[in-house]
Formats: sequence, structure tokens, C-alpha cells
Amino acid sequence: MNKKILSSMVAAAMIASSLTVAPVMADDAAASDLADKTVGVCIYQFADNFMSLYRAELENYLIEQGFSKDNIQIQDGANDQATQTNQIDAFIADGVDVLIINPVTPGSCNVITDKCVEAGIPLVYINREPDEAEEARWDENDWDVTYVGADARQSGTMQGEIIADLGLDAIDFNGNGAVDYIMIEGDPENVDAQYRTEYSIKALEDAGLEVNCIDDQVGMWDQTKGNELVANSLAQYGDDIEVVFCNNDAMALGALQAIQSAGRTVGEDIYLVGVDALSEALEDILAGTMTGTVFNDHFAQAHGAADAAINYLNGEDNDHYIGCDYVKVTGDNVADIQALL
Ligand code: BGC
Repeated sequence: MNKKILSSMVAAAMIASSLTVAPVMADDAAASDLADKTVGVCIYQFADNFMSLYRAELENYLIEQGFSKDNIQIQDGANDQATQTNQIDAFIADGVDVLIINPVTPGSCNVITDKCVEAGIPLVYINREPDEAEEARWDENDWDVTYVGADARQSGTMQGEIIADLGLDAIDFNGNGAVDYIMIEGDPENVDAQYRTEYSIKALEDAGLEVNCIDDQVGMWDQTKGNELVANSLAQYGDDIEVVFCNNDAMALGALQAIQSAGRTVGEDIYLVGVDALSEALEDILAGTMTGTVFNDHFAQAHGAADAAINYLNGEDNDHYIGCDYVKVTGDNVADIQALL
């Protein structure tokens, strides 16, 4: 079978499976129980493109499962841990039945967990994974605490593979035998940023390519920062840059504006990859103005988080780590991904 068709089928199958997560609710009695339950949701920052999609899906899915809209309170941490901690304290004081938390600073999770355990409120962390020592405590103490998310090593690897698959001849515009790249990182405290930065380059090396890092900057997941950083880098290093890796699509969209302003053309004299599969990024891939991205499945993650919360409310256990898969997106399968979103 042709590789292109196969990869489209695999992507479609993976997404189809992630979109058909079996509802936890078994009958109308369960639905009416959920209608009385209160859910506190803390998002690290509403002004994050990806978390906005995630938040909308989470709320819709909770309502579909039988929660009342009025009983779902969602707070904006405004990227400030002190603000978010106050919001968590208020949820605990209100006696919510379950908490779903996207931490501002994953290093604060031990304190957050302690508060929730003491209050007897089950807790589902999302999107920003706490460290191993923290996760080990949940297991050792058999606490009702879990993490739902995707393994960012996979997304970094897929980014690197998208570039490696082009082949050195296509990438090496300056003929120095290496892949000359710049890296635009998300929040360096976040493992998603750490792993994507590391594993994208590891995938190039694993494919036998020599790599040369020209610049590595922190764009904090933000489109405007991504734009400024890539504009500066292009002004400083110009044609030496062959590939722009961005830890997410928001920064890649900013990078694309900088690339175009600098008179460069993606696919002709530079390559650009992100992560998330934001709809604008998919349009760019279709138009050839972005090389690729990696679908960060906010459907599977939101459904997984809600299902885990419901299990706890029903007195059932969850694994302490609930993983979801990423899907590689290039010109070959972008139309399939668009059709599914
Ligand atoms: C997404 C980013 C987002 C971040 C927030 C990551 O998984 O790829 O777009 O900004 O999560 O924590």
C-alpha cells in the first residue's frame, strides 16, 4: 500500500478512536446524579489558543455527560500561580465535588494535591504534567489524583520526522551538510516545551542527519513573541536558517509572519513546523506555507479528563496516568485532519 494512503488511514483511525471515547454514563440515573455535582476547573491561562479549544470541548463534553452548565465553574489563572492557588482555595471552600486543574506552575502540584487530598476532593490534572516524584505519591498513597495528557516526546519526535523525511538534499540550502535550525520554545518550566525541544532534534539525529542549532529562544507559547523572536533571528542569521522549529502552532503562526516579512518562502528556501493543529496552521499546511504540525488531540484529552472525573464521582478508580496519542500532520493528510475537526 502506498505510504501516503497508509499514513492517512492511520491518522484517521487514531482520531476516530479518540473521538469515540465511550461515555462513562450508563443510564439516566447516572445522568441525574451528575446534574447535582459541581466541577471546579482551573485553566492556567484563557489567552492560550490551544487551551481555549480544550476548555470549550471540556465544558461541552461535561454537559453532554449530564452535568448542569451552572455547576461547571471555569477559572482563568491568568498565568499566575498565586491567582490560581486562590481560585483552588475558593473551590475547596465551596466544597466542589471534583477538581480539574491545568496548573500554571507544575512545580506547585505537590501543594495543590495536599490541599485537595486533605479536603477529600478528587483531582484530575491536565495538560501540564507534574513531575515523577509527585505522580509517585498518588500511587503510593492510593489518592484519587490522576494526570490526563499526551506524551510530548511523541510530538517532538514527529516534528523531527516531518523534517527528516524531506531528506538532507531538500533541506540543506546552504550545502554545509547539516540541518541549520532555530528553536522557539514554549514555557521552559513545562515538560511539553522541554521534550519537544529535545526530541525534535533527536529525531533528526536518529535519522542520521547532522544538526546545527543557530538560535534557541523562549517564546512562552505566544504568537506575538514567536513573531518577534523569529524576526530577530532572521535579521541576524538570514539565509543560514533552514528550519524553524516551534514548540506550538501559535508561535509557528507568528514565525510565519516573520518569515514572509523577511521575503522567505516556506517549502522553497526554509521549513517551518509547529504542534497542536490549530485550524489556521492546517490552512497554512494546505496552502504550503507551513511544512507540518502535530495534532494535539484536545478532544481525547478533554474527554479523558471528564471521564476520569466522573469515575471518581462514581467511586471508581483511575490509573494515575491517562495518556493520549498525537498525530503527525503534513500536506499528505491535512485534508483528513481538517475534515475531522
Ligand atoms: C500546547 C501549547 C499550549 C500549552 C499550554 C501545550 O500542550 O501545545 O499550545 O500553549 O500546552 O500548557
